[in-house]
Amino acid sequence: MEVFETVASLRAGLAGRGPVVLVPTMGNLHEGHLDLVRLARRHGRTVAASIFVNRLQFAPNEDFDRYPRTFAPDCEKLGAVGADVLFAPDEREVYPEPQGFKVEPSEIGQFLEGEFRPGFFRGVATVVLKLLAIVQPQVAVFGKKDYQQLRVVQAMVRQFNLATEIVAGETIRADDGLALSSRNGYLSPTERAEAVRLYRTLARVRDRLLAGGADVVDLEQSATRDLAEHGWKPDYVAVRRQADLTPPSAADRDLVVLGAARLGGTRLIDNIEFRR
Ligand code: PAJ
Repeated sequence: MEVFETVASLRAGLAGRGPVVLVPTMGNLHEGHLDLVRLARRHGRTVAASIFVNRLQFAPNEDFDRYPRTFAPDCEKLGAVGADVLFAPDEREVYPEPQGFKVEPSEIGQFLEGEFRPGFFRGVATVVLKLLAIVQPQVAVFGKKDYQQLRVVQAMVRQFNLATEIVAGETIRADDGLALSSRNGYLSPTERAEAVRLYRTLARVRDRLLAGGADVVDLEQSATRDLAEHGWKPDYVAVRRQADLTPPSAADRDLVVLGAARLGGTRLIDNIEFRR
């Protein structure tokens, strides 16, 4: 695997390599990221990953400074899973001057995560647009773990007519069902055992909806209450349409239940797609 730290060297290194598939990440790679790299391999000749912890998408009170940076093991994992190229720029390379132009997401970035993390999707959309402009991949792969992020990126690509196809990868989970996340490393052993409740709570909402007769808003509220009763600080549990994450009408079949909640000092998100 070839590692590039500058835009110029990356561009030179990619020239003549044929269609590129990009997997953008913030590093601290786990099996979820590596699965996206394997998926990328099926979509093009050259698989490029990027590692960049993007300050622009962190609020001042969030975990930018303590976000785990594990470059050497990340390189090893990417090499082992068959990535061809790694783009690992530093902040000055990505933001050589203050980033005055920013991508303001439309409605799809304003609610759920957008409500609880103001500016988050602006930061994500801006860096993803930059990465797509720098790498110019034919395909870019994003995980469904960050479901709203995936929808924001798809909407941006559509509205700006970007020439990159967005491919979605399934969420990879631990044996007990907890979605893998770099932030799981913040959990104490007790919190780690409790953390699976988020997934189980979302699964119960899905199961009750599939069983029929249950009211969506009632289910959302009792799920939120259940998390709070077990020591969580829930931001939301919401059943939405898969396509645009707006609340479903009775006729909508393709749904996703999304949840975000804080356990101790760690904020976790998860979601489950289902069809009714
Ligand atoms: P990061 O959290 O490192 O995630 C990188 C990619 O891996 C995202 O597309 C995310 O959805 C995916 N991913 C994370 N956990 C996963 C899991 N358990 N299963 C499958 N895929 C998973 O998301 C970001 O970085 C950043 O916002 C980024 C897009 C790189 C922009 O800075």
